[in-house]
Amino acid sequence: MSISTDWFVSWFDSPYYHILYKHRNNSEAQFFMNNLTAFLKIPKGASIIDLPCGKGRHAKYLSELGYKVTGLDLSKNSIAEAKNYESDFLHFDVHDMRNPLNQKYDAILNLFTSFGYFNTDEEDLLVLSNFKKALKPGCFAVIDFINIEKAIHQLVLKETKIIDGIEFNITKKIQEGFIVKEITINDKGSISKFYEKVKCINFEKIKKYLELVGFDLYHTFGNYNLEKFDKKTSDRLILVVR
Ligand SMILES: C[S@@+](CC[C@H](N)C(=O)[O-])C[C@H]1O[C@@H](n2cnc3c(N)ncnc32)[C@H](O)[C@@H]1O
Repeated sequence: MSISTDWFVSWFDSPYYHILYKHRNNSEAQFFMNNLTAFLKIPKGASIIDLPCGKGRHAKYLSELGYKVTGLDLSKNSIAEAKNYESDFLHFDVHDMRNPLNQKYDAILNLFTSFGYFNTDEEDLLVLSNFKKALKPGCFAVIDFINIEKAIHQLVLKETKIIDGIEFNITKKIQEGFIVKEITINDKGSISKFYEKVKCINFEKIKKYLELVGFDLYHTFGNYNLEKFDKKTSDRLILVVR
């Protein structure tokens, strides 16, 4: 069966995505944001874009830390929920990251594998180029991607998870340069199916992308504790670019 090129529209907008990933929670977001803002020494009051922000777990906390935060995401449902938390320093809107941002910011954050969804490299480059154009001079963007080499090496081909009484049957495979996850959901007898696809972008490939859009790579971390990246052992590939 062929997977829709827009698989990310339906999957991330569905309540099942949030149930399956509920362990990726506020405390994980807060731990990472404490470490990152301290490392980057982003001054209080700075303007930060969190794109895509999901329901805003990082954006909300960043605004509590004293930043002026805009959270953007394609998912209408996630943004509708995030809007409940808006304040003078925290705004949310629906936005496709392939479209340009029309202002300049002090930092742009792309967190928790929110990259590599599109079929063409041109679309990946467009996203990075939009980030580059929307950064004030000397300011940083952060791309928090999965360490694809470890993810491929440890790929769990088949598993079942039961969360909140809902059964998630998940298969994973490498297909045409993507890790493709097929998620079949049995919610009290009601069956639905979704896909998740992340492009196999390794460190070498992402460095080429950065070069093509004119980003310089400043730091590379391998986890939310900001430890050194190691392609064999790190869970994350976190890039700080400017
Ligand atoms: C893995 S989630 C991460 C969300 C958030 N950064 C977090 O850590 O909770 C990926 C997000 O990307 C969003 N997304 C997918 N394609 C997008 C696009 N073209 N433009 C903007 N957001 C998109 C999804 O709606 C989803 O919320």
